[in-house]
Amino acid sequence: MCNNLVMEYVKFWILVFCTFTTISHTSAESDEDDDYLTFPPGFRLGAGGAAYQIEGAWNVSGKGVSVWDTFTHTYPQNIKDGSNGDVACDSYHKYKEDVRLVKEIGLKYYRFSLSWTRILPTGYPNVVSKDGLRYYNDLIDELHRNGIEPVVTLYHWDLPQVLEDQGGWTNDEVVNWFGDYARIVFTEFGPKVKIFTTINEPTSFCREGYGHLNRAPNKDLDPCGTYLCGHNALKAHARAYHIYDREFRPTQNGKIGIVFACPGQIAKNPGDEATVDTYYQFTCGWFAHPIYSEEGDYPQIMKTRVAKNSFDEGYFRSRLPVFSPKWIEYIRGTADYFGLNHYTSVLVEEAPKERETILDTGIHASVDSSWPDTATSWLKIVPSGFGGILRKIRDEYNNPNVFVLENGCSDNRTTLSDTQRIEYFYSYLKEMITAIKRDGCNVTMYSIWSLLDNFEWNDGYAEGFGIVQVDFKDPNRTRTPKLSVDRWKEVVRTRKLQPLNPTIEDASELFGHQGRKRSAKC
Ligand code: BGC
Repeated sequence: MCNNLVMEYVKFWILVFCTFTTISHTSAESDEDDDYLTFPPGFRLGAGGAAYQIEGAWNVSGKGVSVWDTFTHTYPQNIKDGSNGDVACDSYHKYKEDVRLVKEIGLKYYRFSLSWTRILPTGYPNVVSKDGLRYYNDLIDELHRNGIEPVVTLYHWDLPQVLEDQGGWTNDEVVNWFGDYARIVFTEFGPKVKIFTTINEPTSFCREGYGHLNRAPNKDLDPCGTYLCGHNALKAHARAYHIYDREFRPTQNGKIGIVFACPGQIAKNPGDEATVDTYYQFTCGWFAHPIYSEEGDYPQIMKTRVAKNSFDEGYFRSRLPVFSPKWIEYIRGTADYFGLNHYTSVLVEEAPKERETILDTGIHASVDSSWPDTATSWLKIVPSGFGGILRKIRDEYNNPNVFVLENGCSDNRTTLSDTQRIEYFYSYLKEMITAIKRDGCNVTMYSIWSLLDNFEWNDGYAEGFGIVQVDFKDPNRTRTPKLSVDRWKEVVRTRKLQPLNPTIEDASELFGHQGRKRSAKC
């Protein structure tokens, strides 16, 4: 009885605290508190990259062909500069240099992804490539030798082509294919890797790869294909999680999760929080709700809207596949942390079907003309959206442990004086630290995206997210730190953010950088 009263009392104050922080604190911009510039004790900083974007060596030592190899070779016109990832940053050969850079900056971990076809050239476990295992073991060992923790993603969009030829993520056999691959990864690398991520941003490759013609595998299967891909991706993730949990966790003791692309959303018409929530549920919630919510399964609003639209359009059942109670249970709770990729935000408003931005949402997304541009058309600088999404995740899923696994902005690769990027990191990280310290969000890791300029999917090498520039015309793929590397070294050393003084014209004077081009913008 007494315990119950205490619990009620605690719950009441948690509610008051959450309500207060949500209502009265929407962004860090008005807070001058120095404390919000300093990382909490134990908070870890790292940087990342993904196999197809950096490795190159696309056909070396028997590596099999992935959907991105096929896509870039078949449709170079779909890549801004007609390029591909055949050589990319050549990290396959130059990984030691990458590790040295991470170490020099002082970062504690490095996030990279494995190429499925480098490890399993046939896509199946019947052939395991010795060279593939050798490469990743060498990289992992080099990281450990330098005191850097490997954070390993199993899948960052490069499905074996042979599996794609059988339907890829729209064939539910992918659950077995992915499970088999995952078991080999855990067996081979699990003893040396303590953080695994199963799948990077299923929303991205399902919408852009299977929904319409944009990215590999370039299939135009909507209005059904996107949801089918997502359905199987959730099942495949859960399969990998359970394999790890049952067969490997007892001896390997690591953590395993998944990573989502969660943009920020802001009501175009102030107060229209219902639209904000709907947009959230169709983006982040689509994958997060089945895993992190108490009841599991897709968000209710998604189930309702897709079912209604499907029946109105003459289908006999919802275009959003239905999970059986067994699958709901199998998927629910399959993550030890919440992996978050966040870059930007949108303004959202209700709209008729012809204007909806994402299928079935009934919502039009736009941007505010005051939000600064970057080199990437979709990426506007909106730091407050980062704090907003962190608080939303806190409120939706009982404050899970969030690992920020990607955050950063692009430049057009013409300057090393990436002052805009420095400002981006400062303003976004201030929001994040404020969300942690003031609002109680449980964020413990932050990853710079990316370490290197790399093959930026449809944008090729025309823009770069790297804090280190790579010369893609040079066969040696020379790496040159940008100004933000200096800044990051300082931030890591002091564990404190520092703004770029906007009145200083040449940032190199401020940071002691020599020989950098003058530019106020990226
Ligand atoms: C992807 C990265 C990509 C970044 C910037 C993310 O959605 O996971 O691979 O480089 O966006 O476009």
